[in-house]
Amino acid sequence: MARPGPDERRRRVTTHYPIAHTPPPQPVAPPSGAPRPRLTFIGTGYLGATYAICFAELGYEVMGIDINAERLARLSAGQVPFHEPGLDELLRRNLAAGRLRFSADFAEAASFGDVHFICVQTPQRADGLGADLSFVENAVTALAPHLRRKALIVGKSTVPVGTAEWVEQLVGKHAAAEHDIEVAWSPEFLQEGYAVEDVLRPSRIVLGVKSSWAHSMLHSAHKGVFDLAANEDREVPVVVTDFATAELAKVAANAFLATKISFINAMAEICEVAGGDVTHLARAIGHDPRIGNKFLRSGVGFGGACLPKDIRAFQARAQELGAGEALRFLHEVDLINQRRRGRVVQLAADLLGRSYGPAGPDLTGTRIAVLGASFKPNTDDVRDSPAVAVATKLVRAGAQVSIYDPQGMDNAAKALPEAEYTASLTAAATGADLVCVLTAWDEFRYVDPAVLGEHVAGRRIIDAMNCLDMPLWTAAGWEFRGMGRPS
Ligand code: UGA
Repeated sequence: MARPGPDERRRRVTTHYPIAHTPPPQPVAPPSGAPRPRLTFIGTGYLGATYAICFAELGYEVMGIDINAERLARLSAGQVPFHEPGLDELLRRNLAAGRLRFSADFAEAASFGDVHFICVQTPQRADGLGADLSFVENAVTALAPHLRRKALIVGKSTVPVGTAEWVEQLVGKHAAAEHDIEVAWSPEFLQEGYAVEDVLRPSRIVLGVKSSWAHSMLHSAHKGVFDLAANEDREVPVVVTDFATAELAKVAANAFLATKISFINAMAEICEVAGGDVTHLARAIGHDPRIGNKFLRSGVGFGGACLPKDIRAFQARAQELGAGEALRFLHEVDLINQRRRGRVVQLAADLLGRSYGPAGPDLTGTRIAVLGASFKPNTDDVRDSPAVAVATKLVRAGAQVSIYDPQGMDNAAKALPEAEYTASLTAAATGADLVCVLTAWDEFRYVDPAVLGEHVAGRRIIDAMNCLDMPLWTAAGWEFRGMGRPS
């Protein structure tokens, strides 16, 4: 049989499948002959490992695939290679139950799986703002030649719009045509620190599909999620749509969240010059249900592996598509976010009585305790962490910086070896002229200011997360600075 080209394949699957208001499809048998589709998750980083473990917990037979032998060995031994509450226990339980295994062998993945989820990273390109898709390409081209029966390849990684079509073309080039391998896109919305909950009980599921077979197979691959919801008397909204909308759903959601955070941080800048208190302002507007109070916490701005790089990749893609102007505001969102990091350094200079010149302040001879390194609490992830970025600026300004974080120390020490790392909050603060809270861990939020005051050289604190009880600290004799709050 002649192999259809990508355009022909696309025409064939799109013409007969109406996607608007599509009801749950008729079940189709998994090509492997197993009663439920067998799932592979390619890439066992944050996303893939969490999904693999959680879907095994939902009862699926699952294989996690990676090229990183050390990571696979740790996962196979029951160790999650990053900190995520609740995941270790689920990993060990599902390894023991025999539903979950890990492999580096793409041939094994191909013979095992019915639905292959691509969960690899899409970092910012070294040479620009766009996303580096080489990991996606490698995953697809490593798997496709080994496929020996019909299967569905589903993208989960965050990608520029148009990637799913490109993946379909890659599959057309690298897989045998007679197996009619199909592609779908189903973005994920999990938040680090709540990842288990977000996978087992998602706020919504988006399915970008081109055929009823793909829709049906993806529905079966999520049936465990729907069954769990039904048992708990909940419903999981499902949006069935085209590839482009599915891809955009992810970047649009992250762009909206980033914009909301930068909006309140822009209000913090205004409060700083007008004498208002942005934490009160956020409450005053957040009670309006049209606005909502979530993602309205002002502070040092957003970080992590997703929001910052996603808004940049989104702008780069819009530019390529000739619609750069539509997303020009995201550049402003990014700038507001970056300014917040500089603002903490400015407050540090103010509190320590150092003048702030064009190259920043000279903090030589000062000792600063940085509380927090991870980009948010309940994770050890320090990628694009505002805490590490601020600590780096303080080190560059000449301060002696000691850092404490309940989980992120090892990763932070790799990112910023010039700082000192201490085994406890108290050790970091001992002898400090200034304490900066840069991650809102509970351990920092509920520390007793009177007790901590006994250890420091000067009672000065910057609450860069607006997470402390300001009157409590000032009553204990601390000079206190928040973000967008009166001193
Ligand atoms: C984000 C999205 O929230 C997820 O829905 C998405 O799936 C994920 O990216 C992804 O693309 O994979 P995550 O990076 O885990 O999740 O972190 P968030 O909870 O969104 O926080 C991001 C940053 O915003 C953190 O630095 C946090 O401190 C900051 N933030 C959050 C604020 O400054 N203010 C807020 O009100 C909320």
